[in-house]
Amino acid sequence: MIRINEHYTKLKASYLFADIARRVNAFVASHPDKPIIRLGIGDVTEPLPPVCISALHAATDEMADRATFKGYGPEQGYAFLREAIAQHDFQALGAKIAADEVFVSDGSKCDVANIQEIFAHDLRLAIPDPVYPVYIDTNVMAGRTGASTDGRYSGIVYLDSNAANGYVPAPPAAAVDLIYLCFPNNPTGAVATRAQLEAWVAYAKQHGALILFDAAYEAYIRTPGIPRSIYEIEGARDVAIEFRSYSKLAGFTGLRCAYTVVPKNLKARDSSGNEHSVHALWNRRHTTKFNGVSYPVQKAAASVYTPEGRAQAHALTEFYLGNAKLIRDAMGKLNFPCIGGDNAPYIWINTGRDSWEFFDLLLNQAQVVCTPGAGFGKCGEGHVRISAFNSRANVETALARIAATLR
Ligand code: MLT
Repeated sequence: MIRINEHYTKLKASYLFADIARRVNAFVASHPDKPIIRLGIGDVTEPLPPVCISALHAATDEMADRATFKGYGPEQGYAFLREAIAQHDFQALGAKIAADEVFVSDGSKCDVANIQEIFAHDLRLAIPDPVYPVYIDTNVMAGRTGASTDGRYSGIVYLDSNAANGYVPAPPAAAVDLIYLCFPNNPTGAVATRAQLEAWVAYAKQHGALILFDAAYEAYIRTPGIPRSIYEIEGARDVAIEFRSYSKLAGFTGLRCAYTVVPKNLKARDSSGNEHSVHALWNRRHTTKFNGVSYPVQKAAASVYTPEGRAQAHALTEFYLGNAKLIRDAMGKLNFPCIGGDNAPYIWINTGRDSWEFFDLLLNQAQVVCTPGAGFGKCGEGHVRISAFNSRANVETALARIAATLR
């Protein structure tokens, strides 16, 4: 009989959001008369910006005509999109990123999972806690960790994020090789200041480490001076890869488009000490295993950079931030300490109670789905995350039900 990758046996039985979906589905099946409001997984609810819809229609018409039909595109993405990204998302911030350093893909979840494939197996990892579970689970699958004891895998330096450090961990005392950072943060909604990111870049330079910077929620930053990209930090081109997505920026969770920036001067060593270009390795991996995002979807992504597209995407993030403010205010009125929601679509709530119990309470009594903090790591215990992604009416109803349940 074929043998399995035994590292999979170290994982929890199911992925966090699959686990939640199973519990919610069971509740719905046994209470068909009780409508559920989902503020759990961060999945957008509002339709795509009109500019994206027009771009999709126009690109579909091009595909219907022999003269403009497109077969396989460049695996790294069409030049029109890579150039718009480099110009608007980086050069406009003073960050020197070129179009050929951008790799367009069908999602940041896949990118943050796949990128570690080009690095050695015996790396020392630093991963925040609480954290987007994909960073940890994919490294477990790859065999970079030992077993899990008491909710933590051996072989990972956990970066505790808590009220004491404002949910932004400082670099560890120990030397590590690969560092995962996510700002604005999922799940806490915290943002990192320029000085905090400078400390991470300095640490990475000192230790020859690489930072994987997940900026999927960058479009929600409103506080002036908060960096939108790691490449706003001097020297970051030498030590960081950045991930961005159109999912939360322009409602693409169902359309699928994202990108990864791999600067050409980023270097890594082999076991003999020879230097290799990380850009070349990722390009090799990407062109071998990926055939590009569909032309209509890339046209829709590019439309986000037009003046109308920027205004419409901004209106979308403003709408969700409006929900976030309502959630944070309402939970604050119930005397729960909260963070997030001002520069991120997530509110991180200190419930002071077991997080799965609190999840069950909201599900059973208020028919509201949240995400239990423990699902994001040991430091998430005692917390829940509430997502701002839903209609205004549903958010208001959910908050009224939560208030009635908890008062
Ligand atoms: C989340 O809820 O944490 C995210 O939506 C999950 C994801 O983006 O994959």
